[in-house]
Amino acid sequence: MKSYHTNNERFVTKVFKDVFDKYDIMNDLMSLGVHRIWKKKFIDSLNPQRNTKLIDVASGTGDIAKLFLKKVQFESFAYCVDENQGMLNISKKKNYRSSSMKWFCNDGEKLPFKDNYFDYYTISFGIRNFSNINKALHEAYRVLKPGGRFLCLEFSKVQNDLLNQFYKLYSKSLPTIGKIIVGKSEPYEYLVSSIEKFYNQEDFLKIIEKQNFKNVTFKNLNGGIAAIHSAWKV
Ligand SMILES: C[S@@+](CC[C@H](N)C(=O)[O-])C[C@H]1O[C@@H](n2cnc3c(N)ncnc32)[C@H](O)[C@@H]1O
Repeated sequence: MKSYHTNNERFVTKVFKDVFDKYDIMNDLMSLGVHRIWKKKFIDSLNPQRNTKLIDVASGTGDIAKLFLKKVQFESFAYCVDENQGMLNISKKKNYRSSSMKWFCNDGEKLPFKDNYFDYYTISFGIRNFSNINKALHEAYRVLKPGGRFLCLEFSKVQNDLLNQFYKLYSKSLPTIGKIIVGKSEPYEYLVSSIEKFYNQEDFLKIIEKQNFKNVTFKNLNGGIAAIHSAWKV
């Protein structure tokens, strides 16, 4: 992965700059469409109410904000935050009709919003990519209103040995798929290694608790390939 260290730009920033235009197609291909089911479950778990404000951090091409607005019949606002302008531009193109969606090109570790502003904070397959997860969680807590909810969808640790063996084998093929479709294998080597390095369900729960969140729980999706962590600011 040498090529990513040739300038001062953050490694992860460069990874997503390289893949943003193929991000959606690769997501569908690599997950065989399962990411759509997970995201739908994620928003169902949130069970959002109308006349609320959601902030979706590391929003990518806007899948979560779109599902949220659909769920509340567009009677709420979704603020998409991502550091990658290319991702935000795709999100804008896909959702240009919606006056309920707003886009901000910002670092999730330093949000440009006042305290106690949002009813919901969501992050889907984003937190693993932050340089400082504690800072991002601190910001999540800060911008949420008291009574607000934090919901995180992220890759996690597979609970079953047999499934884990199969999953590891499958993961090994991802850089090759990346090479064929995007012409680059490095971003997908990063994807696999960042998933491996990320916390298990219980350790991540404790990290969320350390930022003052209450009633922190998680549920596994597909045997722990991914997990949804839920928490509240009280
Ligand atoms: C794997 S994508 C997830 C996109 C989308 N949430 C989804 O579930 O499809 C990760 C996103 O995180 C963004 N990202 C990474 N680090 C970030 C940071 N520090 N602040 C804001 N966005 C960041 C990347 O630009 C990328 O769009």
